[in-house]
Amino acid sequence: MTIFSDILMDRRTIRKYSSEPVDDKLLNELLMMGCRASTTGNMQVYSIIITRDEQKKKDLAPSHFNQKMITEAPVVLTFCADFNRFNKWCLQRNADPGYDNFLSFMTAAIDALLVAQTVCIAAESVGLGICYLGTTTYNADKIIGLLSLPKGVVPVTTVTLGWPSENPEQIDRLPLEAVIHRENYVDYTPADIERYYKEKEERKDSGQFVKENNKESLAQVFTDVRYKKADNIYFSNVLLRVLKDQGFMEQ
Ligand SMILES: Cc1cc2nc3c(=O)[nH]c(=O)nc-3n(C[C@H](O)[C@H](O)[C@H](O)COP(=O)(O)O)c2cc1C
Repeated sequence: MTIFSDILMDRRTIRKYSSEPVDDKLLNELLMMGCRASTTGNMQVYSIIITRDEQKKKDLAPSHFNQKMITEAPVVLTFCADFNRFNKWCLQRNADPGYDNFLSFMTAAIDALLVAQTVCIAAESVGLGICYLGTTTYNADKIIGLLSLPKGVVPVTTVTLGWPSENPEQIDRLPLEAVIHRENYVDYTPADIERYYKEKEERKDSGQFVKENNKESLAQVFTDVRYKKADNIYFSNVLLRVLKDQGFMEQ
């Protein structure tokens, strides 16, 4: 039996899946485990949309910039911040819900992400592979239409799930000391930055990225290619509009 610390320390994102199905009973068990995650006031202000239907996955694919995991994984899970159900409960019980604001969106988004990560760990603990898709927040407007999400519901992340058909190498992390602060935040000097990013920058694959993209540094691959300012501004505005349309910016 694999011990839990090994599951956490040996994990890696899986983007290729075998054709072996993930049965409903197992998926239900994983979702039950996910739903044991802590949530704000135990309100459980989230929903999870399961997509197994091939056509539905094809319909969703463009909203995830056609990343192949969407159509190739047997299961796609869209995790949503959801005050719709809770609001309805309040209204049916003569309680006045005050959840039409940005703080409530953050509350629900945090709940949804904690559940998502718990489902992921549960899945990885039985040998399944997962991949998060950050494209959900880029194209939340389109996903809302495709999944019929009502007001009060915003998709915050998507996870593709299946039995692995690849075993990629683990990728790097910054050294622990780079991300830990004791008691107070101690801001980084230029020398700290040099030291903490050295290993990442010296990796062979990093060098390849820089060369392939014709850039001077790995940081430029992030700023000029992968996560560009213009894209961030554009998709930020889309998301702000979604929050407004879904009723989270009323106050
Ligand atoms: C919120 C979030 C969004 C992500 N979005 C994508 C994505 O759209 N496509 C993808 O291939 N991987 C995506 N990933 C996976 C990351 O690329 C991956 O976790 C990271 O490179 C570290 O690799 P590892 O999980 O194998 O350690 C995402 C991960 C997170 C947490």
